[in-house]
Amino acid sequence: RRIGAIIAAAGSGSRMGGDKPKQFLNVDGIPVIAKTYRAFADCDMIDVIYVVTGEDMMQQCKNHMVPYLDTKQLKKFGGIVSGGNERQDSVYNALIAVKEQGGVDYVLIHDAARPFVTGKIIETTVKAAESRDAAIVCVRPKDTIRTVDETLDRRSLMIVQTPQGFRFDLLMNAYEKAYADGYYGTDDASLVERIGVHPALVEGSYANIKLTTREDLPSVTRIGKGFDV
Ligand code: C5P
Repeated sequence: RRIGAIIAAAGSGSRMGGDKPKQFLNVDGIPVIAKTYRAFADCDMIDVIYVVTGEDMMQQCKNHMVPYLDTKQLKKFGGIVSGGNERQDSVYNALIAVKEQGGVDYVLIHDAARPFVTGKIIETTVKAAESRDAAIVCVRPKDTIRTVDETLDRRSLMIVQTPQGFRFDLLMNAYEKAYADGYYGTDDASLVERIGVHPALVEGSYANIKLTTREDLPSVTRIGKGFDV
């Protein structure tokens, strides 16, 4: 079985602010994108890794990644793909590129902005995707969550992280259906659910945060060894 990973790194980082997108900031002394790539490359179950980034960021992305990788990590590099306006468009472009290059049996989709993902989380997601066709990493909310109108029952709520792993054909079908319907989701599992597949829930980690706003940077200092902007 061939297992691929797609790292979504085509966001502009507008909510983070600053002069470069968050995936190119340094964490633990290396760029976020390089740290995220390493986590997947160091996992024996992953065969090939594709990185999606903005059309205007392809060179910047390579410069922030390739020099920080060793030969073994680089061997798994499938290539850089040009992203789209929304995260969904970026992932779809990558799925098409993977298919054109022969495809994989299973694929993990991961946010570049989650550099603290561990090998254990990646492996558990692959295994769950292999047995259940779809698997997503989640943690339970620590806060009480409500809609504007009512408090929700916390016991039934999950915070959804990445990676999310899928049988490749299933995810492709889900994407094609979403585009046919004009549906846009904020993650991949929501697309797969629309074609009737309920993903397995894999336990994530509170440390597997998505760097999104400036407030996430102090917590980065605590989780990792430090952040220099
Ligand atoms: O914006 P947000 O933090 O939710 O984005 C999650 C991930 O998706 C980030 O790693 C970002 O780079 C990526 N993304 C993308 N293409 C877009 C928007 C976001 O690959 N058009």
